Amino acid sequence: MPRDDDAVALFLHASDPAVTASFSWGPYAHAAEALAWLRTLPAARERGEQLELAIAHHDGGLIGIIALSELSRRDRRAMVGTWLGRPHWGTGANAEAKALVFHLAFALLGLERLGAYAAVGHERSQRALEKVGFRREGVLRHWHRHGDTVHDVVVYGLLASEWRRGAVPVAVDGEPPAPFVVA
Ligand SMILES: CC(C)(COP(=O)(O)OP(=O)(O)OC[C@H]1O[C@@H](n2cnc3c(N)ncnc32)[C@H](O)[C@@H]1OP(=O)(O)O)[C@@H](O)C(=O)NCCC(=O)NCCS
Repeated sequence: MPRDDDAVALFLHASDPAVTASFSWGPYAHAAEALAWLRTLPAARERGEQLELAIAHHDGGLIGIIALSELSRRDRRAMVGTWLGRPHWGTGANAEAKALVFHLAFALLGLERLGAYAAVGHERSQRALEKVGFRREGVLRHWHRHGDTVHDVVVYGLLASEWRRGAVPVAVDGEPPAPFVVA
């Protein structure tokens, strides 16, 4: 889980308007916004609402966030969302982070489906999702509200059975967070 001492790196990346262009939040104007958000995470994890994970570079430091949300325990599904600081686009970090989260979701938490949203005009995000195995399922009309503007989104899905066919080995240290374990 990202911690308070990730606030500087979080602010650095999320104060870039290119990073937050398709989000309902940001870009951050003050480091305090990053810290305030980080401090909401433990309770959201405890409630089983949001499982936010830091994407860390081996040279040190947070370079992005990948998160599970909209958990349905009954249906064994959740949504995954990812953002990376601009210097880390096109580096393979997205595919690596997705491979780790797929393992977490399908092998450790017991989910049977992961979904993902992409803004309709966000070709890069759509291509990135398709490259890691998501299937485009359609357009959800007026799905997100950003301020006074409503947005359609493309919805993607990946089933556990589809993931298993191309899964890569992942070494795991520790236990998955109990509020997200469904099976
Ligand atoms: C979305 C995100 C995580 C993807 O990670 P990434 O490292 O940029 O993705 P990749 O480079 O692996 O894949 C992007 C693909 O889109 C392609 N692409 C880029 N711009 C494109 C465009 N305008 N039209 C079509 N394809 C495009 C790239 O060439 C690449 O495909 P290729 O490897 O076959 O050449 C990252 O761009 C990001 O953090 N963006 C800002 C936050 C965000 O929008 N998150 C998603 C919310 S829906």
